[in-house]
Amino acid sequence: MTQTSAVRLRGITKSFGSNLVVEPLDLEIGRNEFFSILGPSGCGKTTLMRMITGFETPTAGSVELDGKTVDRVPTRQRDLNMLFQSYALFPHLSVYENVAFELRVRKTAKAELDRRVREALALVRLEDFPQRKPSELSGGQRQRVALARAVVGRPAVVLLDEPLGALDQKLRKEMQFELKRMQREVGITFIYVTHDQEEALTMSDRIAVMSKGRVLQVAGPTEIYDAPNSRFVASFIGSCNLIDAVMSSADTVEVAGLGPVPATVTGGFATGTQVVVAVRPERMTLTDRPTEGSFAGVISERVFLGDEWTYHVKTGGTELTVRVPSGETSAALATLPEGGQVWVSWPTAAGRVLPADDTTSPSLIGSPA
Ligand SMILES: Nc1ncnc2c1ncn2[C@@H]1O[C@H](COP(=O)(O)OP(=O)(O)O)[C@@H](O)[C@H]1O
Ligand SMILES: [Mg+2]
Repeated sequence: MTQTSAVRLRGITKSFGSNLVVEPLDLEIGRNEFFSILGPSGCGKTTLMRMITGFETPTAGSVELDGKTVDRVPTRQRDLNMLFQSYALFPHLSVYENVAFELRVRKTAKAELDRRVREALALVRLEDFPQRKPSELSGGQRQRVALARAVVGRPAVVLLDEPLGALDQKLRKEMQFELKRMQREVGITFIYVTHDQEEALTMSDRIAVMSKGRVLQVAGPTEIYDAPNSRFVASFIGSCNLIDAVMSSADTVEVAGLGPVPATVTGGFATGTQVVVAVRPERMTLTDRPTEGSFAGVISERVFLGDEWTYHVKTGGTELTVRVPSGETSAALATLPEGGQVWVSWPTAAGRVLPADDTTSPSLIGSPA
């Protein structure tokens, strides 16, 4: 017996005219999962969400909610709720009535309605202002009302499309933790759309990374960060050195001007293939003298960021970015000026060999579920 997923997409596809905006996609989202769809603006995130809700009809493929096909079920009758990028509260209604609205439409009994509204308001920590009007609330508080409204009917799935986009940086950070806490408390499946990688890493159980209508990788935050399966994923999430290289044998990668470099080759690349070696800046070590397997270079720039130094180092023909935590900078290194001689190294496990173009690594495409 297999446990049914909250959402299952089979071959879901969307074209607008001749413009293919979501390529055929299979995806399974588990019950109570906090699942993020992450990708740059225009990659098809909203279109994908709208197909799950039924606001948009897929060109092909099928949507299942809780094990049942809903292709012919109108949005209203799907057990879900969507919080839009630009949500709107009713300005003339109180916080309480904004949250109660949907339950009143459904003619929920008075005592039940009151219980549910108070519960939803407590969940978003707005139980003290039920009678305020939206105009008497801050941006963050209005956002919380919209959230309470999205969960008050206890749908199985809530879809959130860049809900924190309008908030300032500090409030966004606060709301990220609040959202995660809230999702755990209510046990509702959250599908969360964002173009902000940090937001996705902070909150998600799993992340689907999208680019140009394609889902490139589906995995947990640490796997997405540590084991990106493509050049796009490596560079979109965090920062990453992408070093042009060529397969000089089945398990050796060579960089022009440097020779063989440390890298884990997971296979699938023929000798002679152009690849990139992806290395996170914090996995590189910078020293003021040669160490085993290190590459000589020159500091082209260094930037102090408080908790760390970012060094740009020219080695061979390649410019590398190296992060050194402030506390770990040696006195010798700290006194080196721009133009000073340094050595860069990294462990074999820190170098990931990926296709040079936009495709995913043949050996690294994860199962979409
Ligand atoms: N109703 C529509 N008609 C035509 N093109 C559309 C429509 N909706 C979205 N698109 C196009 O589909 C692509 C993906 O859009 P969207 O799903 O909104 O991306 P995202 O949410 O990732 O920013 C864009 O190129 C957009 O212009
Ligand atoms: Mg969008």
